[in-house]
Amino acid sequence: MSQDHKKEAPVAAIGSPSSTEELALDVMDAASGRRLVGSLVSFGLTQEGRDVCVTGQVTGIEMRNRWHELDVMKNIIKTDGTIPFLSGRQDVRTATLSPGAVFSRASADEPWSHEVLGSLPPAGTPVMRLTQEKLDELMEAQRQDLFYVGRAYGDDGVSLPMYVKHFGDPRRGGQGEAYHSLVVGKTGSGKSTLAKFLLAGYARHEDMAILVVDPKGEFADEIAGYAVGDSGLPFRGILKGLGRPARRYGITQVRLEGYELFEDVLASLGLDRDLNIRGAENKAELATAITEIIRESSFTLDSCRPRECFEEILRRIADEDDGYVKRIYKSKEPQDALREEIEKILAKPGHRIWATWDFLGFLFEKGDGTRQTIGQIVRSIMASPSGERPLVVLDLSTPGNRRDMEDLGDRFIALREQDEERDLFTESLQKKVIYRIVSDMRRLSETIVSQRLREGSRENVNTLVVFEEAHRYAPRQVAADDEDGKKLKAKLIEAVRETRKFGLGWFFVDQTIGGLDKEIVQQVRCSYVGYGLSMGEELNSVREMVGGDQRDVGLYRSFKDPASYGRPSEKRFPWMAFGPVSPMAANHPLFFNAFSGTDFAEFNRLPVDGTDRPLRLPPQSVAARRGKGGGNVKAESLSELPEDILG
Ligand SMILES: Nc1ncnc2c1ncn2[C@@H]1O[C@H](COP(=O)(O)OP(=O)(O)OP(=O)(O)O)[C@@H](O)[C@H]1O
Ligand SMILES: [Mg+2]
Repeated sequence: MSQDHKKEAPVAAIGSPSSTEELALDVMDAASGRRLVGSLVSFGLTQEGRDVCVTGQVTGIEMRNRWHELDVMKNIIKTDGTIPFLSGRQDVRTATLSPGAVFSRASADEPWSHEVLGSLPPAGTPVMRLTQEKLDELMEAQRQDLFYVGRAYGDDGVSLPMYVKHFGDPRRGGQGEAYHSLVVGKTGSGKSTLAKFLLAGYARHEDMAILVVDPKGEFADEIAGYAVGDSGLPFRGILKGLGRPARRYGITQVRLEGYELFEDVLASLGLDRDLNIRGAENKAELATAITEIIRESSFTLDSCRPRECFEEILRRIADEDDGYVKRIYKSKEPQDALREEIEKILAKPGHRIWATWDFLGFLFEKGDGTRQTIGQIVRSIMASPSGERPLVVLDLSTPGNRRDMEDLGDRFIALREQDEERDLFTESLQKKVIYRIVSDMRRLSETIVSQRLREGSRENVNTLVVFEEAHRYAPRQVAADDEDGKKLKAKLIEAVRETRKFGLGWFFVDQTIGGLDKEIVQQVRCSYVGYGLSMGEELNSVREMVGGDQRDVGLYRSFKDPASYGRPSEKRFPWMAFGPVSPMAANHPLFFNAFSGTDFAEFNRLPVDGTDRPLRLPPQSVAARRGKGGGNVKAESLSELPEDILG
């Protein structure tokens, strides 16, 4: 038995019956005053002449007093509440422990290495609380691989070591292939925050590239330097400290391509509404008509922005002989009305449709060639050389993209002012853009890896893609008429299934497991479940995922809602992690409370570059709109304003 087990009093002793899968623990009286559930414990034994240290997390504890179970005694209890000399004194506390990670070494001056438990200690073997000191000793050999995101669920004194490995070369600390991850939990459970912790962990590896698909704009705000949420995590400062180039792309910073996307954006922008066309079928016909005309004409998608082009398109639509109007409307009355509408528009240079067209044309315009297409962005992420590998955030949020439009100056002011309630950046547009990203990534990862192989390199693309709100793109059920949705989901499933070996891993963040496609959930290897999935179907999914041990599920259900704490500083953000997430993991989940943002940076000794406060405040109108939208961007306080704000 190892020496260090003598320092502290044991919390329990190995009891009976025990097996290598499940050990009975007799809890010592002296330990009954301290929290044991959720704590990490360890005990020692000798196996094949080696010192073995078995660790585990206590998931439940039971108290029995057999006197209290006797009917005759219940009569005394009924009146007195306790039985003299028996209540309390004859209580027996037992706990069960499923062994987690097991370590062994040949002698005390060797580092510990992973081991498989193949024997059992004698009954009465002392079980100790695992201290940080002991844990550090067990981890000595793999210290450089470790990363910390929180403390053991039942013991604030111990931080849980985790693995956040990149997907690249194992000789450079990588996993050699990608793995997929999932972070789930109710809104407010701290998913995005944990995801940022893990991302910061990945960002330490200069060999890894990261893309965040950001439908809420939260990551985009983070890297732009806005304070997001209350965790105190200096995300931007960490990225800067690590020397990690971070780039944000809004939709207006991407050059869109392709007729299909064009038709969709055209509808998203409300060009059909500007023409007073209402029915879904009629709208679709209009979109087809416009793209057909462009295909047949001398101009192209990336050069059709000028007003004359749209004039020509409108004239062709209205033209009797071409018959487009007849395709849009079957009956005469609306046909005439549409022709009239077009006449009116052609005679009215200030009509709002010109602004709509201008913006549409801008999104697809080639311009001076500086705006990158999705394909180019994807390639620049995946094929970037080590040391220059970026963290790219694709901001698909409405507030973020509206702000971009404002940043473009007065060019599109007419469009903005005409119709505030118009959804310029609809979900359907998001889906099309994401489809393009996923299919480009899927294809390019394979192309890049096979090209490298031919050149004699075995380097994979070592890229992580983070998806917030994953159910929007890969829901368990897609509406029967949602063709885009079906296509996107199929593409995502295909990617998740096939890109692992090319070093492309997917990281999903979502509020439920049940809302997410089943196959995707099955392909996930590392999962983190936060507060809030303790009922019905969701609980079943959790149970399925972690292997169905009642005690694990029970401990998970004991999680308290972070929102239920009085003071913000007392808040806890509990997590259950499953899969090869930690050197302490075995076939059971691990339980921890996430660090606060500041503790996180400190504990991992992350370099935080605190030099730049955001110098440019967001324009008032944007701040107001963000406030209205209920996003979690915190307003700047007066004390944070730069001193020279008034010049
Ligand atoms: N570990 C933590 N320590 C301190 N504060 C935290 C922690 N995790 C989350 N928070 C804070 O709690 C709030 C909610 O967290 P977060 O936005 O990460 O939750 P979420 O699960 O992503 O919610 P949603 O589903 O609405 O996106 C934020 O203000 C965040 O800063
Ligand atoms: Mg979130």
